[in-house]
Amino acid sequence: MKQMCKDLRFKMFAGPGVSITAVKASGVRIQTREYGELIDFESGCWAAILGHNRKEVTQALIENVEDSLHTHQFFDTEHPGALVRELTKAAAFKSNYMGTFISSGSEAVSLAVSLAELVTGRPRKLSFSISYLGSTPELHLPRDPARWTDLDIRECLSCTRQSGCRECGKHSSIDFSQLAAFVFEPGNSGGVVLFPPDKLIRFLAEETRAAGGLVIANEVTTGFGRTGKWFGFQHYGVFDSEANEPDFISLGKGLGNGYPISGVLVKLRLAEIIEAAGFRYVQSHIDDPLGCIVARKVIEVMQKENVIEHGAKMGEYLRTKLAETAARIGGIKEIRGRGMMNVVELDNSHKAKEVFKGLLEKGFFTGYSEVYNYIHLYAPLIITEEDIDALCHSLELILESDPAVQTD
Ligand SMILES: Cc1ncc(COP(=O)(O)O)c(C=O)c1O
Repeated sequence: MKQMCKDLRFKMFAGPGVSITAVKASGVRIQTREYGELIDFESGCWAAILGHNRKEVTQALIENVEDSLHTHQFFDTEHPGALVRELTKAAAFKSNYMGTFISSGSEAVSLAVSLAELVTGRPRKLSFSISYLGSTPELHLPRDPARWTDLDIRECLSCTRQSGCRECGKHSSIDFSQLAAFVFEPGNSGGVVLFPPDKLIRFLAEETRAAGGLVIANEVTTGFGRTGKWFGFQHYGVFDSEANEPDFISLGKGLGNGYPISGVLVKLRLAEIIEAAGFRYVQSHIDDPLGCIVARKVIEVMQKENVIEHGAKMGEYLRTKLAETAARIGGIKEIRGRGMMNVVELDNSHKAKEVFKGLLEKGFFTGYSEVYNYIHLYAPLIITEEDIDALCHSLELILESDPAVQTD
């Protein structure tokens, strides 16, 4: 009975060591018990691209929860197919995709990997050692070297060579003939925000495909406008044709604006092969109508309000403001970003966790990493210049008053 008084929430992550109790969230703001109102520069867990509790999305949930919460995979509803159609149109895909919808991003990546293995009959995958792909045992880092080739591409990130990757030879030991897929995460890398160069992605995608392998775009975080385009892969010219678009696209996070829905898009040609092969994959929440209804509404609002363009503009504004802060007071090693996916790497005179706590005190919720000493800023795409100004002003005050800097 005594045990019952203890908080029974089982936490498997390293938190900031301060208590933050959420009371309610709306737009870019989260009301908390300890810190009052916080401006959320994390979009929940990088998911609430339209802001929290978006009126039209919540309305769609309320209106449909009684009739369409959950069914069984044997039942058809109009929603999964309509969701694929609407997303294909909104994102201007050149090829035809089929799609299925599940619950978490990890499942969506894992399912795409299984499908690529099935189609190719090969077990090995290619990815990057900086790429977070999910929380399931086969996906989380470090991955099993018997089944994964995880390239260290840190040197390639700053490559200035005129020649291509074939001539460079750095990755010449990859045996592409063994690969089921190149699992490409276009730039998030667990919040580190590093963008693999165009020529490297061209080389890996082309070689993988020439040897009979497939390309999986992991768009769990980079999708739904986060990078300033509908999908992160759309920044890379190698995928810019019907034939070359990714074979599988894994979706999550922004798809439901915080509601737990994820999905896998599969090129029509492959989907037909997989269906004919009798592949079976069943879980409790396949194509649940309510999640699909929510996602359809998210897409509708994104289009109606040009949310992606706004997010991209705000991302540029944020980086400009951060650069001004860095120039004025120093303390910042690097600012990286694309769209509203940004990281501020601090120099050694500051500790990211302390800066995070300082920002909390001033009314801002951000991400941080103690390992890489950065603050990350993945605000909802609807954030305003005013909120960005307020964040940058507070960050400047914190960096200026950080005792570690004053003693330097
Ligand atoms: C790039 C990437 N892939 C996969 C995942 C896993 O998604 P989920 O946490 O919804 O399982 C994440 C989550 O942060 C991610 O950032």
